Amino acid sequence: MGEPLVVLRDVDKHFGPLHVLQHIDLTVHRGEVVVIIGPSGSGKSTLCRTINRLETIDSGTITVDGKELPEEGRELARLRADVGMVFQSFNLFAHRTVLDNVTLGPIKAKGVKSSVAKTHARELLDRVGVGDQAAKLPAQLSGGQQQRVAIARALAMDPKVMLFDEPTSALDPEMINEVLDVMVGLARDGMTMLVVTHEMGFARSAAHRVVFMDGGQIVEEADPETFFTAPTSNRARDFLSKILTH
Ligand SMILES: Nc1ncnc2c1ncn2[C@@H]1O[C@H](COP(=O)(O)OP(=O)(O)OP(=O)(O)O)[C@@H](O)[C@H]1O
Ligand SMILES: [Mg+2]
Repeated sequence: MGEPLVVLRDVDKHFGPLHVLQHIDLTVHRGEVVVIIGPSGSGKSTLCRTINRLETIDSGTITVDGKELPEEGRELARLRADVGMVFQSFNLFAHRTVLDNVTLGPIKAKGVKSSVAKTHARELLDRVGVGDQAAKLPAQLSGGQQQRVAIARALAMDPKVMLFDEPTSALDPEMINEVLDVMVGLARDGMTMLVVTHEMGFARSAAHRVVFMDGGQIVEEADPETFFTAPTSNRARDFLSKILTH
C-alpha cells in the first residue's frame, strides 16, 4: 500500500439540524480500495461528495494528494480533475455520442488536443468493453454499457482516485456483473478507489478495507473477511443480518 492519498481529518457537516457527518477520520492510501457500507441515510453519499467538494464541510480538513481542496476557481477545477466520480445514475450527456462523452472533459477542462483525446477515449472504451459503441448516443446503450461509459469518462481525466457511489444499484441484475468486473479490473491495475456499495462479492474480491457508517459516523472498519464474518459492533451486526438475509 502506498502513502496516504485522500485524507479526511475530523470532518463535520450539518444539513440544518442534521449532523450528517460526525468527526470523520478516514485515510485512503495510494492503490487502496476502500468500500463504504451502511444503512440508507447514514451519510455515505455525502461523504463521497465532500471529497471533490460537491458538498462543502463545516469543519475539519480534506486533502487529496497532500493538497486541500480550494473553495472555488481554476485551482478547484484542476484538483477536482484528480477525483473521478461515478454515480448511481450515469449522467451522460444525452445528445452527445459515447465518444464525445469521454473526450469532452479532457478537451474542455484540460486543453487536450481533440485527436489525442479521441485516441485515449477509444482505448478506455475498449478497456471497459464498449469500444464498438463509440458512435452511438447514450440512450442506444444498455444501463450496464452506459455505466461503463461513465467509468471511461471519469478515467479520461486521468484521476488519482475514483469514487463510486452505488454504481450498480440502478442496474438490472444481469448488468451488475459487467460493471463490477470493470471495477475489479481497475482495482487490480492499482487504481485508488473509494466505493459505496452493498455488493459483498465486490467487497470480498477487491476491497482492502470495509468502512461501516451509521448515523453520520464511522462505526467500524476492518478487512472484508473480518468485517463480514466477525463484525464487532452491534450496529454492523444488525445491518449485516438485514442485508445478508435478502
Ligand atoms: N442536500 C441535502 N439537504 C438536506 N439534507 C440532505 C441533503 N443531502 C442529504 N441529506 C440528508 O443527509 C442524510 C445522509 O444522506 P446521504 O445521501 O449521504 O445518505 P446515504 O448513506 O448515501 O444513503 P443511501 O444509502 O440512501 O444512498 C440523509 O438523512 C439525507 O436525507
Ligand atoms: Mg447514497
